[in-house]
Amino acid sequence: MKHTKIQLSRNAFEHNLSFFKGIIPSALLSPVVKANAYGHGMAEIASLAKEFKVPMLMVNYAHEAMFLRKTGYKGRVVIVGPFPHQSSLSELAQLNIEITASNMGALEIWLRTTKSLATTGRVHLKFNTGLNRQGFELSQLSEITKKLDDVSLQYIQGVSSHFANVEDVMDQDFANAQLTQMKKIQTECKKVFSEDTEFHLAASGAAMILPESQFDICRVGISIYGIMPSSLTKLSYHQVHQVPPVLKPVLSWKTQIVETRTIHQGDFVGYGCSYKAESKMRIGVLPVGYDEGYSRLCSNHNAYVLIAGQRCPVVGRICMNMMMVDVTNLPEEKLCDEVVLIGESLGETISIDQLATWSQTISYEALTRIHQDIPKQII
Ligand SMILES: Cc1ncc(COP(=O)(O)O)c(C=O)c1O
Repeated sequence: MKHTKIQLSRNAFEHNLSFFKGIIPSALLSPVVKANAYGHGMAEIASLAKEFKVPMLMVNYAHEAMFLRKTGYKGRVVIVGPFPHQSSLSELAQLNIEITASNMGALEIWLRTTKSLATTGRVHLKFNTGLNRQGFELSQLSEITKKLDDVSLQYIQGVSSHFANVEDVMDQDFANAQLTQMKKIQTECKKVFSEDTEFHLAASGAAMILPESQFDICRVGISIYGIMPSSLTKLSYHQVHQVPPVLKPVLSWKTQIVETRTIHQGDFVGYGCSYKAESKMRIGVLPVGYDEGYSRLCSNHNAYVLIAGQRCPVVGRICMNMMMVDVTNLPEEKLCDEVVLIGESLGETISIDQLATWSQTISYEALTRIHQDIPKQII
């Protein structure tokens, strides 16, 4: 994938870190770097995390956590996804990687395995407060504590939960009910776990608009990359803080034209002959398609790219590794300019939200669709 690249702005990442430190006065900010750091590149984001002394990162899987250690990241790493396979628990503990147990089966495996290991890893217990995806019920707390002896109790590092409905609404009734339940969980857990136990609930949206949900750690994913979780969260932020949020997108996605051709009235472009030229026009071929992560739903004037600040509409269907754009109005000398798929070009911008809308999805999915092999460059 030589002709396409992702550029990551160091300045934007640093800005977003300080933005969050500003609105999270007393909790620990822990960027979420799962899913190849939301398409930004795990290695690159880990190197920025090292540079800016980010103390803690969150991932979904054991292999992601181990990869972070391979990059030399020495801060805390927490796996927030499903309980890792039993065979990896020893290595994870040796690498000082924290894991999450969200059901009795997982807790029992952890207890059994831990007894036979030289090193014990620290565990976060995840509770369900309404998402109904993973997590113990509060009513199971006494059963949990019965299983823990004095030694294993010391390894309970945290207690977490996850919101179901912060980003898609302005009215936070459901989130507030979850928050109330988390506070009950906190009260009960404090009676049995160490006083240093860390409680965490908020992801980007809640960290920004429900300050009470910040507890001890905020797990900030999408917005550490400079993107608001949704337009409603943006509006809510404005209401809560009386100023708009100022996040800076970290990622730009660029490519270049690899071939051009002139076509005439009545000629078709691409598979399915779905685009028919109404007059003579010039087509630019880009080496990016749905394999690279550019959705096929962007076919035929559903999207545009930027070249020298000019919008060039997509014509024909997005192919597996190529796409065609209309460059008829572009001056000849601009055909060699960089092509912006996401990012800024001479004052014009295509945001990830825009690309997600064209792709009929959300920014989270549009970002994680970007192929991990596309070269990354920190600028
Ligand atoms: C458990 C958990 N915490 C935090 C996050 C981060 O969410 P966001 O990207 O909205 O900040 C996620 C994302 O999927 C998650 O699954």
